[in-house]
Amino acid sequence: MHEDDSRKRRPGTEDVSRRDFFKTVGAGSIATAVVSGVKEAAAQGPAALGPADVPVTLTINGQRHQLQVEPRVTLLDAMRTRLDITGPKRVCDRGACGACTVIIDGRTYYSCSMLAIEAQGKNIRTVDGLASGNTLHPVQQAFCDHDGLMCGFCTPGFVIPTVALLEKNPKPPAEQARRALDGNLCRCGTNIGVLKAALSAGGGTRG
Ligand code: FES
Ligand code: FES
Repeated sequence: MHEDDSRKRRPGTEDVSRRDFFKTVGAGSIATAVVSGVKEAAAQGPAALGPADVPVTLTINGQRHQLQVEPRVTLLDAMRTRLDITGPKRVCDRGACGACTVIIDGRTYYSCSMLAIEAQGKNIRTVDGLASGNTLHPVQQAFCDHDGLMCGFCTPGFVIPTVALLEKNPKPPAEQARRALDGNLCRCGTNIGVLKAALSAGGGTRG
């Protein structure tokens, strides 16, 4: 994992990677902690949510949405099937391809790997909110200009981490752009075009 790709993190765990956590604590300790944690939670923790629908409020592309979903519903499914926000795509549905990537509070996440209830109170951005009327966001335009899409199904997932990267560093070196996009897969071979788009969208082609 690298500084530009927080998609394998859970919200609120930004400072410790899963690998570091396992290295430090050890699986045995985790199992013990989980068992005693469950017992403790059962004894004094908050009431369990679900399985029935619960109220959830999501702020997506600047708009508040109130909906009722089961606690097990992912952010991706809540957006696509309940709110008709279909820019993030469901491809692998297991945190492997990046097609569902969104920006949450400035960092990229796989929306298929996060529950909708976890995303409450956060600022969620999807590719649907990038264009201004008929004018594409500069990153979207750069993808068109540099042939960064073929099937187009994975493209929203590439556009979003590119936007997140350029908002942090408008002129990233090629290696940083590659790292920012390494959580996304394209089966058509447009990666060169995607990289060119990422490097040009912030101003000028580099690397
Ligand atoms: S659909 Fe979420 S990572 Fe593939
Ligand atoms: S453009 Fe979508 S998989 Fe290649």
